[in-house]
Amino acid sequence: MCGIVGAVAQRDVAPILIEGLKRLEYRGYDSAGLAVIDRHSVLGRLRRIGKVSQLEDALNHEPVRGGTGIAHTRWATHGEPSERNAHPHMSGDITVVHNGIIENHEELRAELRGKGYVFESETDTEVIAHLIHHERKSSETLLEALQKAVTQLDGAYGTVIMDRNDPDLIVVARSGSPLVIGQGIGENYVGSDQLALLPVTHRFQYLEEGDVAEITRDKVSIFNFAGEPVERELIDSDLDHQAGDKGEFRHFMLKEIFEQPQAIASTLEGRLTDSHVAVEAFGHNAREIFEKVGAVQLIACGTSYNAGMVARNWFEDLGIPCRVEIASEFRYRRAFVPDNCLFVTITQSGETADTLAALRLAKEQGFMNSLTICNVPGSSMVRESDMAFMTRAGAEIGVASTKAFTTQLTALLMLVTAIARSRGRMTEEQESQIVSDLRGLPHAINEVLELKDTITELSEDFADKHHSLFLGRGTMYPIAMEGALKLKEISYIHAEAYAAGELKHGPLALIDSDMPVVVVAPNNELLEKLKSNMEEVRARGGQLYVFADRHARLVAGEGVKVIPLGEISDQIAPILYTIPLQLLSYDVALIKGTDVDQPRNLAKSVTVE
Ligand code: G6P
Repeated sequence: MCGIVGAVAQRDVAPILIEGLKRLEYRGYDSAGLAVIDRHSVLGRLRRIGKVSQLEDALNHEPVRGGTGIAHTRWATHGEPSERNAHPHMSGDITVVHNGIIENHEELRAELRGKGYVFESETDTEVIAHLIHHERKSSETLLEALQKAVTQLDGAYGTVIMDRNDPDLIVVARSGSPLVIGQGIGENYVGSDQLALLPVTHRFQYLEEGDVAEITRDKVSIFNFAGEPVERELIDSDLDHQAGDKGEFRHFMLKEIFEQPQAIASTLEGRLTDSHVAVEAFGHNAREIFEKVGAVQLIACGTSYNAGMVARNWFEDLGIPCRVEIASEFRYRRAFVPDNCLFVTITQSGETADTLAALRLAKEQGFMNSLTICNVPGSSMVRESDMAFMTRAGAEIGVASTKAFTTQLTALLMLVTAIARSRGRMTEEQESQIVSDLRGLPHAINEVLELKDTITELSEDFADKHHSLFLGRGTMYPIAMEGALKLKEISYIHAEAYAAGELKHGPLALIDSDMPVVVVAPNNELLEKLKSNMEEVRARGGQLYVFADRHARLVAGEGVKVIPLGEISDQIAPILYTIPLQLLSYDVALIKGTDVDQPRNLAKSVTVE
């Protein structure tokens, strides 16, 4: 999704803008642009379709320099990817970048046309530029013009604006699309993600909904939606400057797969006692809240939704009613709210537009309390939920989520345990077993990662296929869903997941030797059922790839390849069986030569509906 970087400094900010954009590339985009103003009010603007490196090349050939600048990576919503539609957009002396969607752009466009404005692009953003230009005529300051303009905008925006006549400042506004201000020494910055600004600062202020701000080299002034001056907390980020580097790995995705033992160790750190999950890790009043929980509603999108599907099984196994729903569905229907229902969002970024909208809706619907399982401190979901549990996976750059997912599962297993114990639904022995399994996770993942070479060999069988099927039962059904999602995201092979028992109700018709069937088969009480499903595939000439417990007595043979995993306890099996599926999709994508870290048409953080 779109990215924003802005800076006000004495030095030339173009390199800061380019570096910031590169660090936002992982969000997904199709064009990029920047504009800078120098101290003589000379403005230079460059825009290019394609990668930030193309913009950088353009900058090297036609240098533009200045101490005040804004930059953007665009992910097309209104109007095709083209130089004309790329940001920054201009109206006279006003220059604008924008993330989000202006819903009433057509009405505004018509009004502005009536006032004589001529539109050069098909974007909704250009409306903001002309609107501010218009308001500037009757305003004392650029900030006042922005304040007047935002009252006329419906929709979502994080926007940053410069005026050529005021070369030493930028103004910004946030509503529905995140913006963070970075404070430097004698220079200040703004970005849509703190990652963009890490090379220049670690001190951040997140804007809240409805905030506008004026940023100069030595001052940041923030105002709320009512125009009152406000202070926003200054956070010292502990994110590593190197977070955006691939290190020795060929792709971020591979690096992040191999980071999982460490990431999960961080999720657990300080949150387990000898035999308990520390309930307080969910918030100082979590114990009191959890004792009252009668039901749980989980809400998420994409990979995070798959994590929720696993957790539903965990909750209901212990007699705690749990529903899980995709945020974009939940927000547009009337959901039943059980008594004392805890509302839980699962979100890597903390900014997914549908999940955030669902959280806001839930607050009006009588849910008991809200909790977010999130990976980004200071994000919207963290700030707007009653409780937040940080997964501490570290920055995840690859669009296809890996370590964010397994740390979400780890966090969810801790949540299930904490609630079940508070509700008297779990014995001390059960809790102690889970705690011991959790502690063993980093080591167990390292063992599964040793399968890398075996899986690389296997991946050859998939690279020329167009379709594939993933099967699982119980908690392994969502893991099959996650495996299928990974494969389709990065290798572009059509992959579908089915609860194995549904095979006869349709997908069996598709089985032939061209359709690899991946089965996730831990050694649990559903194994025998799963074996019958495998026979059904085999009898029809299908090719099976079975990830199975080495004690499951599954034998490889004609049409069956078995990839054995160690003995794994039921509770943590979903976490461990995810890893080989991640490796498989990575290796298949590698053979196919796709853009592993930035698959076509996808974005890391979906901040528009
Ligand atoms: C996008 C990402 C997915 C992610 C989903 C939900 O589709 O590409 O990897 O699972 O958004 O994002 P969230 O940040 O809310 O977990």
